[in-house]
Amino acid sequence: MTHILHVVGARPNYMKVAPVHRALANGARQTIVHTGQHYDVLMSDIFFRQLDLPDPDINLEVGSGTHAAQTGQIMIRLEPVLLAQQPDVVLVYGDVNSTVAAARVCSKLLVPIGHVEAGLRSRDRSMPEEINRVVTDALADLLFTPSADGNENLAAEGIADSKVHLVGNVMIDSLIRLLPMTEPDRVCRQVGVGAAFALVTLHRPSNVDDPATLRTILDTLAHLAERIETVFPMHPRTRARVAELGFTPPARLKLVEPLGYLEFLALQQRACVVITDSGGIQEETTFLGVPCITVRNTTERPVTVTLGTNVLVGTDMARLRSEVELALDGRRTHRSVPPLWDGHAGSRIAGLLIARATVWT
Ligand code: UD1
Repeated sequence: MTHILHVVGARPNYMKVAPVHRALANGARQTIVHTGQHYDVLMSDIFFRQLDLPDPDINLEVGSGTHAAQTGQIMIRLEPVLLAQQPDVVLVYGDVNSTVAAARVCSKLLVPIGHVEAGLRSRDRSMPEEINRVVTDALADLLFTPSADGNENLAAEGIADSKVHLVGNVMIDSLIRLLPMTEPDRVCRQVGVGAAFALVTLHRPSNVDDPATLRTILDTLAHLAERIETVFPMHPRTRARVAELGFTPPARLKLVEPLGYLEFLALQQRACVVITDSGGIQEETTFLGVPCITVRNTTERPVTVTLGTNVLVGTDMARLRSEVELALDGRRTHRSVPPLWDGHAGSRIAGLLIARATVWT
């Protein structure tokens, strides 16, 4: 039986591995390696439980560090695991440091690499994720893209068409499967919001690491909260920076702990507007038809702007406020869900892997 080893490490990886792992359940031997990039219960364990993922077989426990230290530690600790496990193929997900570190180790050991969520480009090399995407795609043997722009980007970088497969969006597979399990009334009570609210997430270094930028964003959110109740589940990086600033939120701006997958999905589904700098949330709001305002100048997910509900405002806070008004007035309407964001991307990936099994074994 083909042995497929999945490497995950950070919060946005888990909802991507889950549908692939499920689809391969009867067709392959599978091993999950968690790098330990994210280690808090609320950043990791809760997602494994809610997504019905088995516990990782191996945890490399690398923890936090600079980019070089974190990536290097993952490489050092993963190499002996791969030598011992001898997988036929390694699957890596998205664009986090764990993704590129695993791809680099596999490429030197001549282990075939499948990259799930390949081909996305923001063309902003100041984002660490963009470096991770370009390097991972250059090394991957199989590139599974979520949308046609991914195929175009890879072709422009000279990556052979034969390696690239447009499969759709695995993150939306998880959303479609678990949306019926969410409990929006309970979650709204839990975080203390009523029927109409805005939902905020921010964690990009470019938004939260510079005190002046973060202060401007927080002051804008405090102002917006007078217009609409706002809930802001905070990433640990953001919580630390907000604490350093000594910011005290007004009562209608609720700063809460990171939420589980089901809880966050429940809030996204109910929110009047979502303000974010996350990549995955741009996609989820597009699928749900909820207006999304992205506090970034670029996106690696352009279909969320051209087809979906997303608008980029950078750190222009006047624009952010006017976009919130448009959304609350119902003037930002849902257009369409991108092709193949249909709940079957994981099965397509599994089908392609199993069809190639004879090449590897
Ligand atoms: C990482 C990804 C980013 C992704 C994000 C999702 C990279 C380069 N960045 O950013 O693309 O959008 O995850 O969350 O891989 N921390 C904790 N507990 C944890 C994990 C982190 O407290 O479980 C704190 C630590 O102080 C750490 C900081 O958060 O230094 C940043 O963590 P790190 O994994 O370096 O990057 P993220 O900002 O989470």
